[in-house]
Amino acid sequence: MIALWGIFGYLLGSIPFGIAIARALGLGDLRKIGSGNIGATNVLRTGNKPAALATLLLDSGKGAIAVLLARHVGGDAAAVLAGGAAFLGHCFPVWLGFKGGKGVATFLGTLIALHWPLGLIACAVWLLTAAVSRISSLSALLAAALAPVFAWGMGRADLIAVSLFMAVLIFVRHRPNIARLLDGTEPRIGRR
Ligand code: G3P
Repeated sequence: MIALWGIFGYLLGSIPFGIAIARALGLGDLRKIGSGNIGATNVLRTGNKPAALATLLLDSGKGAIAVLLARHVGGDAAAVLAGGAAFLGHCFPVWLGFKGGKGVATFLGTLIALHWPLGLIACAVWLLTAAVSRISSLSALLAAALAPVFAWGMGRADLIAVSLFMAVLIFVRHRPNIARLLDGTEPRIGRR
């Protein structure tokens, strides 16, 4: 039964809101714009800020909704499973031939719904790093890396496991960004 929450979370997380919004607004195919990623940072490169904000809210919201619904009906273990699966769905969506996004917004939404203080800490790390560096990927990598550390500080094995799982995948999905960060060519937020 609990496995069904994994399937539910995965299918919800698989919805590529960035692609749908960009297409609906005539902004083009996100996969051929900027970094080619399907997330809010790349939607912002089209110059349409409301579209980027909507993508951010919907991509984070799908993780949060998966968690909240699963917790309401199935309990805490179902919530962790559904949230982790929603994140996985965003990164490897069945609708896009398993070629999805980098998972950052869904990671944040999932964490906020699972444990709001931990989620807010991750958001704060992202925002502070972005304010200083103006680099979205660096902000995401730092937030992802620190989330399991804070989860460990809270002594919650389930949060450590799910945040570590998401952090590892975020690093894997950001390999091109990490290469650009290392050679100093990663664009600032809003730049191509
Ligand atoms: O949230 C994704 C961000 O960390 C990097 O996006 O488009 O710059 O590769 P992008």
